[in-house]
Amino acid sequence: MNILEAFIIFPVLTGPDGGWALDPDPVQELDLDLVLEPDLSAVLRRVDPRFLSVTIDASLAAEESFMALLSSSKVRTLSSALSPSFLRFGGTRQDFMKFKPQRRKRNSKNPGSSSSTSSNTTVSCQQLLPWVVEKQLKMNWTLQQQILIKEDLKRKFPTFSPPEVTVDLLNSFSSCCGFNLIFGLNALLRTSENVWNSSNAETLIKYCQSRRYRMNWELGNEPNSFEKKAGIRVDGHQLGLDFLRLRELMSRSGFYRDAGLFGPDVGQPRDHRTDILGGFLQTGAEAVDAVTWHHYYVNGRDTSLEDFLDPEILDTLTSKTNEVMEKVKLLSPTKPIWLGETSSAYGGGAVGLSDTFVAGFMWLDKLGLGATLGLDVVMRQVLVGSGSYHLLDENLDPLPDYWLSLLYKRLVGPEVLKVRKRSGSARSKRVRTYLHCSNEKSYSRGSVTLISMNLNQNPSRISVPLVLSSSSLEAFILQSDRLDSRSVKLNGRLLQMLEDETLPDLRGTRLPPSDLLQLPGFSLNFFVFLDVQAAACL
Ligand SMILES: *[C@@H]1O[C@H](CO)[C@@H](O)[C@H](O)[C@H]1NC(C)=O
Ligand SMILES: *[C@@H]1O[C@H](CO)[C@@H](O)[C@H](O)[C@H]1NC(C)=O
Repeated sequence: MNILEAFIIFPVLTGPDGGWALDPDPVQELDLDLVLEPDLSAVLRRVDPRFLSVTIDASLAAEESFMALLSSSKVRTLSSALSPSFLRFGGTRQDFMKFKPQRRKRNSKNPGSSSSTSSNTTVSCQQLLPWVVEKQLKMNWTLQQQILIKEDLKRKFPTFSPPEVTVDLLNSFSSCCGFNLIFGLNALLRTSENVWNSSNAETLIKYCQSRRYRMNWELGNEPNSFEKKAGIRVDGHQLGLDFLRLRELMSRSGFYRDAGLFGPDVGQPRDHRTDILGGFLQTGAEAVDAVTWHHYYVNGRDTSLEDFLDPEILDTLTSKTNEVMEKVKLLSPTKPIWLGETSSAYGGGAVGLSDTFVAGFMWLDKLGLGATLGLDVVMRQVLVGSGSYHLLDENLDPLPDYWLSLLYKRLVGPEVLKVRKRSGSARSKRVRTYLHCSNEKSYSRGSVTLISMNLNQNPSRISVPLVLSSSSLEAFILQSDRLDSRSVKLNGRLLQMLEDETLPDLRGTRLPPSDLLQLPGFSLNFFVFLDVQAAACL
């Protein structure tokens, strides 16, 4: 089915609103939901080319064997398609991690499969996981997940010691997939004076340097909850000093002098969390290249399908972001601000929601709104592994948010454009749009990509001005049979891998120029306007 057929199948507007509308729907002359007035003359702001980035939770390394999943050929294929991107390795368990170097000389008869590869510093991207082992690991992961969930619930996190091979695997994965690795160091190793004890980090940094691993660094995950997780309270002021110490180590190493350092990875503003950020910036701002904070919309344990489609919940990102930005602007005005870890629902996600089509509304809106508000990088928790907010499921197959991310990567460029929106109906709150230059790698300069989503059950219509309506366009319409489905259709065709090393063709549907765009009910959409010659994008 092509997109034009899809349009014909959907009844054109009006009718009951399926209970989603807040007000009765005033029938307008043209039934327009939104009138767009874009400004194509200048770029509003420019985000990092790696704006959409991903994470791997440190819990994947709690049991060493599971790191091998990163050598699955399917995972490699799917991940490579998301580059360029940062890969942040961190999360709660990073602060319970103590790197354990191997004493190879004294212990040479140590079995360990890594001994043969560890003398070889060139990474082979061809060394992939045998499928029998992959199959076993996937089965074992189910059990491991239960263990991790129990630890999370009890907030009891055993200390673990990732060996060299864990660091090796992270690095080969990153470099083979085209990711820039960010490694989260343990900030809970502290002296009796409550100062960061950098001794273990130094050992790790030395090892990484000896292997010439290109890496960036972080220190501590959500320091605002250190007390809850480990009974240790660290204030922002001291954390800033700890970051200065880490920066000094990096400078001294030579090899990591110009590497990135990001932090403090605080939870979203609430109670004393902003105090931690303020204190941190006063002492540590000069140590970091970007200020990171974490954001989740809802609690995974008590959320609902309706929440994922609620424009008021989506809008909470604005106030939280502004709160962080004001603080940073005041104390360190030029520092980029990143979402260092973010997803729909905290607590591992919401089962049956965070891993289904409906999660895409929170994800795509976060990408659109975040770029407009002033964020430079947004790191999605998680690419693969823990929780139900992953992009790849437990069989390592892509979930709807993976396909959405891939389309975003291909279609959307880093230049954010200004667009004024006039609403034509009461439902327009449930139609959300963002405008960027198109990704230059996929489209010629001057084209623009409209990101849009329809949170209404019924189709919605957007009107665009002549500058867009005179252009031919490509439409990418994502829909699903059910909002809580783990599959998604692009322009009516189910998205799935053709085989472990082959992605399907993600082609758009050409549409003739038109001053009206129709968004099917509950859809996520990209419209690429091909021959606009937008001055901002030339
Ligand atoms: C999976 O778990 C079983 C039982 O603990 C273990 O014997 C096996 O080696 C594990 N498989 C892999 C690939 O780690
Ligand atoms: C820091 O940690 C190392 C390794 O655990 C330990 O040997 C050293 O005594 C600690 N230093 C301080 C000042 O606590």
